[in-house]
Amino acid sequence: MTLAFTPDQHLREVLDSFNEDVDPRLTQVLRSLVTHLHSFVKETALTRQEWMTGIEFLTAVGQKCDEHRQEFILLSDTLGVSMLVEMVNQDQTDGATEPTVLGPFYVPDAPERLNGESIAPDGSGGKEVVISGVVRAAAGDPLSGAVLEVWQVTPDGLYDVQDPSIASMSHRGKYRTDADGQFAVRTTVPVDYQIPTDGPVGTMLRATGREAWRPAHTHFMVSHPGYKTLITHVFDESSTHLTSDAVFGVRDSLSVDFSTGATSFDFVLDPIE
Ligand code: BEZ
Ligand code: FE
Repeated sequence: MTLAFTPDQHLREVLDSFNEDVDPRLTQVLRSLVTHLHSFVKETALTRQEWMTGIEFLTAVGQKCDEHRQEFILLSDTLGVSMLVEMVNQDQTDGATEPTVLGPFYVPDAPERLNGESIAPDGSGGKEVVISGVVRAAAGDPLSGAVLEVWQVTPDGLYDVQDPSIASMSHRGKYRTDADGQFAVRTTVPVDYQIPTDGPVGTMLRATGREAWRPAHTHFMVSHPGYKTLITHVFDESSTHLTSDAVFGVRDSLSVDFSTGATSFDFVLDPIE
């Protein structure tokens, strides 16, 4: 059968409907997205029922979101999109620290902490560890006054925002490097934990036989004027989930030894061109 109006003509009509004079970048992004979406529908010969299942799934993802729960970030993470966005936005040619996913549990305005101070409230359990090092430029100079925002799960494997019984801002803090670019974060050894599976992303993981585990890690967001903000983690090299991270965020260069109670890690920032 020959279609009077072909899928290619249909795609052209949709692409032409975006007016590039209004916002050229937006038009570029949307034309690319539409082109890939149309290819996906053609390649899979998507049925009406499958299309509706997809619509219902995305609706459920949106309905699961609230002030503390960001199911769309979780979906992006588990589809490998968040990690890819980091990769295409960070130039790794000059030895800068490798980035990884932000994740859905970052909270701005964490309490300011002095170097050596702990992000773990007294009595929160777990084994103590100090992560220390230097923040420096890719060119080598230590960066004084760099800000390190740090967050991780409690020893129970939950973020403060996931459980009302955990004090707000537990295991979160904001540090600044000293005149020599040095910092020292006191915390508890991070533990492996599962990403939230009580929403549609969890349904997708189960339906496709996938794991929900993340290997133990501490999150860092490191910033300094004149440099690109680095979003990364340091991972526990002994975690059994390093090769099966649910969000594909592990990089060999980010693994450290947490077993001795003191570990060192330097963060290297990329200058803004
Ligand atoms: C996290 O490490 O906090 C995280 C990252 C992606 C999805 C869920 C959690
Ligand atoms: Fe995390």
